[in-house]
Amino acid sequence: MADKLAKLEMDGKTYEYPVLEGSTGPDVIDIRKLYAQTGLFTFDPGFTSTASCESALTYIDGDEGVLLHRGYPIGQLAEHSSFMEVSYLLLNGELPSKQQLDDFTYTITRHTMLHEQLMTFYRGFRRDAHPMAVMCGVVGALSAFYHDSTDISDPEHRKISSHRLIAKMPTIAAMAYKYSVGQPFIYPDNSLSYTGNFLRMTFGVPAEPYEVIPAVERAMDRIFILHADHEQNASTSTVRLAGSSGANPFACIAAGIACLWGPAHGGANEAALNMLKEIGTPDRIPHYIERAKDKNDPFRLMGFGHRVYKNYDPRATVMQKTVREVFDALKVNDPLFETALRLEEIALSDPYFIEKKLFPNVDFYSGIILSAIGFPTTMFTALFALARTVGWVAQWNEMISDPAQKIGRPRQLYTGPTQRDYVPLSQR
Ligand code: CMC
Repeated sequence: MADKLAKLEMDGKTYEYPVLEGSTGPDVIDIRKLYAQTGLFTFDPGFTSTASCESALTYIDGDEGVLLHRGYPIGQLAEHSSFMEVSYLLLNGELPSKQQLDDFTYTITRHTMLHEQLMTFYRGFRRDAHPMAVMCGVVGALSAFYHDSTDISDPEHRKISSHRLIAKMPTIAAMAYKYSVGQPFIYPDNSLSYTGNFLRMTFGVPAEPYEVIPAVERAMDRIFILHADHEQNASTSTVRLAGSSGANPFACIAAGIACLWGPAHGGANEAALNMLKEIGTPDRIPHYIERAKDKNDPFRLMGFGHRVYKNYDPRATVMQKTVREVFDALKVNDPLFETALRLEEIALSDPYFIEKKLFPNVDFYSGIILSAIGFPTTMFTALFALARTVGWVAQWNEMISDPAQKIGRPRQLYTGPTQRDYVPLSQR
């Protein structure tokens, strides 16, 4: 029995609903019996006040700008950990011992190859296909190639398919890139790290050896860590909703990729860099700030604002530092970085952005780094999908193992016509 109760008074009757407490963060009113007791639904488009599930993976305090994975702050993980270690943490709940990390890395490394038949699948796409279109298609198609791990009621199947997805995503993303530039696919090299291998599969060519630059490898690994999970965002909720019907994990992750593609979500990193390019020099910033504030103009500052963060996105802080590291390692300097810094400064001192609590999010600086490393803008969201796969998979596993899990089925406020009789075509 919950200690606290929320009361609803209506038509002279009082209904009581338990208030459930998490380990931190806002309490939730458990309204599961609301419809049965009152005949009413709640109305919350965009789920701004709705907790859709119980989860022990990731916690965000949007007012304070805090992001924790299994309790560990993202800043600490980005500085001291690796993507493989964070993946283990998300999947298993605790940081691994050295042996556990070695075993996990070994397992993931051994799953990096793709079924050879998938090569022909790629060749069916147009060369100018967006990498996210290719990712949606290829990841969805994995269930046709790996149906020996699609029995979701078998924990061993779930584990293997999770490992396969995390391991194969860099190969899939790199191949999408190679296909778009007309270069041969590069097979994985198991002597490299997860991230080093991805860089080689993307930028290496068979004609010469590829040398991974450690500072770039580290920066890329950190970018993967920053994108690994982010509680019940749109794509993760999509994965959970798709999975709630019992769909196989490959299909669920393909659904997540489709959702991530949108410019309000994962597509924002591509849109943010395109916006910075369009702005160009700092003297043009005021014009774009005015446009962003104009209600009659659909333009928004991409890489700014967040549903949950009403403070600086902690991932943006790490991302901004990483820009300089990558520039130093590659001995480059993109003037767009200066434009971005100035844009941030101007926006953060503007009453519109202050009042609405709009701060840079993870996507504001990531495009500058990825572009310096050599990725075309169309690959940015594919990289987000690659890194988020572990979060999706961990959330999907958590959902399937939850005994309270039910098929996701929201209700609606119907505003269409009430029942009426069909009118034959001749009488219309
Ligand atoms: N530029 C200008 N105004 C903005 C912006 C922006 N980037 N973001 C929000 N606003 C305004 C918006 O017009 C609204 O004003 P009003 O209250 O006067 O109508 C107010 O701020 C609240 O915005 P909202 O759209 O109701 O907020 P939301 O929580 O539904 O949307 C968001 C969050 C991230 C979709 C939105 O801030 C946005 O479109 N940002 C730009 C796209 C972006 O950077 N997305 C990446 C998000 S982080 C990575 C990820 O999760 O994928």
